[in-house]
Amino acid sequence: MIVDRQGRRFRNLRISLTSACNYACTYCVPNGKRLVAAQDELSADAMARGVAYLIEAAGIERLRITGGEPLVSPKLESFMSAIGQMGLDDISLTTNGQLLTKKLPLLVDAGLRRINVSLDTLDPAAFRSIARGGDLASVLDGMEQAAAAGMKIKVNMVPLSGQNLDQVLPLLDYCLERGFELRFIELMRMGHLAKDANAFLQQFVSLQQLLTLIGERYEYAQTDAPVDATAVRYAIAGRGNFGVIANESVPFCRTCSRLRLSSTGWLHGCLSSSNRHYVGDLLDKPRHEALPALQRLLMKALGDKQEVAFSGGATVMKIIGG
Ligand code: 5AD
Repeated sequence: MIVDRQGRRFRNLRISLTSACNYACTYCVPNGKRLVAAQDELSADAMARGVAYLIEAAGIERLRITGGEPLVSPKLESFMSAIGQMGLDDISLTTNGQLLTKKLPLLVDAGLRRINVSLDTLDPAAFRSIARGGDLASVLDGMEQAAAAGMKIKVNMVPLSGQNLDQVLPLLDYCLERGFELRFIELMRMGHLAKDANAFLQQFVSLQQLLTLIGERYEYAQTDAPVDATAVRYAIAGRGNFGVIANESVPFCRTCSRLRLSSTGWLHGCLSSSNRHYVGDLLDKPRHEALPALQRLLMKALGDKQEVAFSGGATVMKIIGG
């Protein structure tokens, strides 16, 4: 097992099934530009082999499927069925929910038990101006149906100053009423926001600002979270929990156990580093050739992790999926 000086190792793999997305969220891509879907994305087979090899070479225990938007990918079904038999402790998926109703049977059949849905507002007009694609009603319908099918749901909201702060309490109520766990994600200096400090600072909302807002309606107390969790979790007695992924306010690099594989075959050891390591060619090789080479690259990827705090990265979330 590859372990660094801080005792960190890779446990959680996040795999971006495709960089294509049916949204163009303002904080993710600049100027409404939709990044073109990569020509040379890996096949479902190569990706599944990547997961199998990384389970062995890095000790991966948990897998999250991301994007882009994973539900737009035609590879979803064969990928899901291939990874079902690999003995992972946990498989989850992050989606914007737009195609959830349509893809739910496929996800349920593949044995998926939990999903994270990105939703920044319950206001249809604000939804259109932030996501620049899709429609709110489809997302809400998808979540209701997924919940009815027994899935555990977490909702990701990126609070943005001047855009959706009026939605913090409505979204929290919406989630508490349905037993969904709301996770606020502090805005990260990714992609165009890494280069434009003004745009970042104008929109950034801190953990403390959020707690002040929530405190106007609810009493909350900090509660337990797993050691390598990214979220600080809070309980509202008798109602439920919420979390804050506070990249800036409570950095979690010291316990980061995440490894990312992009849809074009690059390993990323850290969101905050522009280093990446190409493994696409290794995934077509037999195990005895692939594993030693992978291990060398995993050492490098682990060395890319920040010591303490996320400082920003040119990588666009759409490429690597959060
Ligand atoms: N900062 C914080 N969260 C982001 N996401 C995408 N870009 C950013 C950013 N710059 C979120 C998406 C999704 C999750 C995977 O990451 O909204 O919920």
